[in-house]
Amino acid sequence: MLTVRTISELQQRLAAFRAEGKSVGLVPTMGALHEGHASLVRRSVAENDVTVVSIFLNPTQFNDKGDLDRYPRTLDADCRLLAQCGDDILVFAPSVDEIYPEPDTRRFSYPPTDEVMEGAFRPGHFNGVCQIVSKLFSYTTPDRAYFGEKDYQQIAVIRRMVADLGFAVCIVPCPVVREESGLAMSSRNTLLTPEEHTLAAHIYRVLHESTLLGESVSATHDFVVNTLNAIPGLEVQYYNIVDGDTLADVSDWTDAEHVVGCITVFCGATPIRLIDHIRYK
Ligand code: PAF
Repeated sequence: MLTVRTISELQQRLAAFRAEGKSVGLVPTMGALHEGHASLVRRSVAENDVTVVSIFLNPTQFNDKGDLDRYPRTLDADCRLLAQCGDDILVFAPSVDEIYPEPDTRRFSYPPTDEVMEGAFRPGHFNGVCQIVSKLFSYTTPDRAYFGEKDYQQIAVIRRMVADLGFAVCIVPCPVVREESGLAMSSRNTLLTPEEHTLAAHIYRVLHESTLLGESVSATHDFVVNTLNAIPGLEVQYYNIVDGDTLADVSDWTDAEHVVGCITVFCGATPIRLIDHIRYK
């Protein structure tokens, strides 16, 4: 496993692999890696000759400076985890100045996909995600790029950007990896106290229970919101039951081929913002 810090070194290494006809997989991350990331990396290692794992805490996608300041930074531990994920891994860990020598003034707009849910509550978030992911795609020209379905909406926005900008990359969505309690693995979980961790496990429990109700969309929505809000220490920011492809709200289960519930919950005193989703059909 090799770590490179600059775009030019990354591109030189990749040019050499390409000259040998090797395929390239990209796993973009912000570090603080966990088993969820490891599952993406292992999949890329299995499907490509070379895997680039980018570790870059992208400041332009944080609309809340406190969230950026709190975000865990664990490069040494990240590299130890990646070393166990297979051979032929190239870690790209650039500085902020390397990626943004000048402020990135590009604007990306993919309504309604980037305007609802996370887009509504974190203005500018998806613009920042598109800024960094488009740069990473340009530097690495990957054959495949791997994203966790935990950030369900992010994948939908990135698909729109890929279609818009004509990147020749196959986007590979990978299933959420959960802790034993059902809590979706997230870098932010390390910020939870043990008590908050226990509390956070209710999110998936209630989402799962809601799939067994057999009620209308609006009754299912209200069940999730009311049940979670009744637990002291949890507060639902939004729960949207949407068309799994367009992310438009549905009012009836027959409105779309795939129906998904997307949730964000504030957990604990800090509070830590946790996201998750569940498939209804
Ligand atoms: O999902 C993430 O960790 C980030 O949004 C990504 C895709 C690495 C871009 O910074």
